[in-house]
Amino acid sequence: MAALAYISDIARFDGQEVTLQGWLAHKASKGKLHFLQVRDGTGTIQCVVFKGNVDEPTFVKADHLGQESSLRVTGVVKKDTRSKLGFEIDVKGIDVLQEVTGYPISPKPHGVNFLMERRHLWLRSSRQSVILRVRHTVENAIREFFDTRGFTLVDAPIFTPSACEGTSTLFEVPYFDLGTAYLTQSGQLYMEAAAMALGKVYCFGPTFRAEKSKTRRHLTEFWMVEPEVAYLDLDGDMELMEQFVSHLVGRAVEKHEAELRDLLEKAAKQAEDDEDPSGRKPLDPEEHLRVLKNVKAPFPRVTYTEAIERIQKTGHAIKWGDDLGGDEETILGKQFERPVLVHRYPAEMKAFYFKKDPNDPKVALGCDMLAPEGYGEIIGGGQREENLDVLVAELEKHKLPREAFQWYLDLRTYGSVPHAGFGMGVERCVSWICGLHHVRETIPFARMTERITP
Ligand code: 4AD
Ligand code: MG
Repeated sequence: MAALAYISDIARFDGQEVTLQGWLAHKASKGKLHFLQVRDGTGTIQCVVFKGNVDEPTFVKADHLGQESSLRVTGVVKKDTRSKLGFEIDVKGIDVLQEVTGYPISPKPHGVNFLMERRHLWLRSSRQSVILRVRHTVENAIREFFDTRGFTLVDAPIFTPSACEGTSTLFEVPYFDLGTAYLTQSGQLYMEAAAMALGKVYCFGPTFRAEKSKTRRHLTEFWMVEPEVAYLDLDGDMELMEQFVSHLVGRAVEKHEAELRDLLEKAAKQAEDDEDPSGRKPLDPEEHLRVLKNVKAPFPRVTYTEAIERIQKTGHAIKWGDDLGGDEETILGKQFERPVLVHRYPAEMKAFYFKKDPNDPKVALGCDMLAPEGYGEIIGGGQREENLDVLVAELEKHKLPREAFQWYLDLRTYGSVPHAGFGMGVERCVSWICGLHHVRETIPFARMTERITP
């Protein structure tokens, strides 16, 4: 019996007979030859069915197989310099598990709504496989970064009694006799408690925002990683951010450079073929890879005030005190080759927990990291208010119910210390690394204002 093999380690089987288990991605025929592109989840390989090498029924069957038919292919592994993989299969036999006709996603381009509606199938495309693999690498690198620096992973709850990031984006859930619970917007407050216990901690899980805005950067359910460190100030926090992102991008490029180049080249080619109504130019593959390879700490830093001046100089009518929206972040991010750290935002527009700058109480000791190439905010974080009275006043100012935060105030009553942390949305980061237009492709099953299926 032939050995079972995965396409990703086909080189080990050079010259041997193997059986592959997979699906038919594409088929072409020419006279006495059928060329089956078979994928097995680890890769795609060309399987050549030559009439002289198989029995008549197998040759006929191969001619009728539709896209995504499930099959086991047995044949000899042969070197083939023309293919990217370097090998092909000389087919001896095919065992069809299910013959498929009418698979809805053909190689021709489809609209994104059509594809999102069929996301459960769209995942099988090579583009989506690359994106999910990059996501996997980024998620592993996140854990690796913190786990090798003495952090403890502490899981935060999903049901929460109160808001963390403003009350306008809360998802409400009826909760037995206790009234209303909310899906978590951030694990931060719980990480602050854990940091007082374990020093350096992080949580990594799904978070929820009832975002009314439909933008290419917003999901209603996304994955956020949130480190929190006791005795850390804003400067230390910014250093942690830049080292963290350098590590993630480094790992992604190290593992996926060829796949990323391929993905970007195909996207650039498709953009040439069909006009994008947004008028958006696709990223140049080599230029994007160059930018990614250049992502090394330290990153440039500008204050919010300097950022406003920079944006004003481009002719934009923004003024001090305005929030930086997606467009403004894009303008600013494009002025730098590396991610930029924008710190000291007006305290007025920030969440209740930010510590104010003792040298200028108008601004908060917070920092956002904006990705280059127009990708905007990927990280938000900063130093927390550690003074009990100031925090109580802030809760009142933000009209947040003190009872729900009593436990949080305890952290400022029993051994309060300076501390800081941040949150990074995995989808925003992966979207930038892969050079995608929209975050929806970076999460296996996107949840957005207008979509909850499949
Ligand atoms: O800036 P945000 O709201 O910060 C917090 O939640 C803090 N409590 C984090 C902390 O300090 N522990 O969100 C942090 C990041 C953003 O920079 C962005 O990457 C991502 O979370 N994010 C979203 N990603 C996708 N869809 C959304 N609707 C997002 N909202 C935030
Ligand atoms: Mg933010």
